[in-house]
Amino acid sequence: MTSWNKEIEDLRQIINQFEVKDASSLEAFRIAFLGTKGKLKDVMQLMKEVPNEEKKIFGQAVNELKSFTESLFENYKTNLGTSSNPKSLNIDFWATATKQNLGVRHPISLVRNEIIQIFSKIGFVVAEGPEIEDDWHNFTALNTPKDHPARDMQDTFFLTEDKEFLLRTHTSSAQIRAMEHQNLPLRILTPGRVFRNETISARAHCTFHQVEGLYIDEGVSFADLKQCIYYFAKEMFGSENVRFRPSFFPFTEPSAEIDISCFICNQKGCNVCKKSGWVEIGGSGMVDPNVLKNCKLDSNKYSGFAFGMGIERIAMLKYQINDIRLFWQNDIRFLNQFKAAF
Ligand code: PHE
Repeated sequence: MTSWNKEIEDLRQIINQFEVKDASSLEAFRIAFLGTKGKLKDVMQLMKEVPNEEKKIFGQAVNELKSFTESLFENYKTNLGTSSNPKSLNIDFWATATKQNLGVRHPISLVRNEIIQIFSKIGFVVAEGPEIEDDWHNFTALNTPKDHPARDMQDTFFLTEDKEFLLRTHTSSAQIRAMEHQNLPLRILTPGRVFRNETISARAHCTFHQVEGLYIDEGVSFADLKQCIYYFAKEMFGSENVRFRPSFFPFTEPSAEIDISCFICNQKGCNVCKKSGWVEIGGSGMVDPNVLKNCKLDSNKYSGFAFGMGIERIAMLKYQINDIRLFWQNDIRFLNQFKAAF
């Protein structure tokens, strides 16, 4: 091999091994080999020393190396632009993926879903209604006419001066809608957000969530209601010790408040049960025949039971949360504690 031949081959190797991984090393490549003071120009200088008979092939060899270097340069340039040349990028394809920070479900959603799941096992299906209601669905159809004192039980946010439209105070309004529009027998759950004009404190809020249940068929009795609640208490709290206390609701007769034995202190008395050994979880009763009539159902043929409970209340009991306001503050430190729940 003639000496110039070796020089050209050495330079080809250097060009080949030059690492181009970003825009600045690409520019360094250009200056080193293709620039006016670059290595290719230097090699060209050898022409003077090459014997005459070899000048032609020497010229061809240098030109070939030059176009090889130029096409390499163009290649690097386009690949850097599309970031697809592994040689030009510093990517570790075997690196572990970055950890994704997954969100968590809100405790209210968790408890609502759990309640729905429990009741769906005994045939209840979800029915929903609007949060803005009219007087008929929230009060009148529920046996609470305009002058009824029971209206004061629930301080209402009215939306119009004639008190015709309001924010629903309970999800019983959705039950009226279901009775008006669906076929019997009816076995529904109405989860949803409700509103009451109350002072906000650790125990009360002007907005909260309820799940109400309604079962209407021929021959439904109070015994069915009791069994249904026993089943729920067992599934939800592991407690079958349920107490029904006589109460009053305009839409049920008879009516009962539902208490379960305090599963926190085992009825020994604690702060949660206020030393009584019992905690209230909701209201219930047999649907008043007037309500059935208002929904154009035959009250001689059909009977039904209804119950309602506050989701916040149940979540507070289940997770031992002592302030209802925590549900609305969206404090990540609070919410992250429910990561393990599904
Ligand atoms: N609607 C009642 C409330 O909001 C709860 C309830 C529902 C009571 C069904 C009895 C029957 O307080």
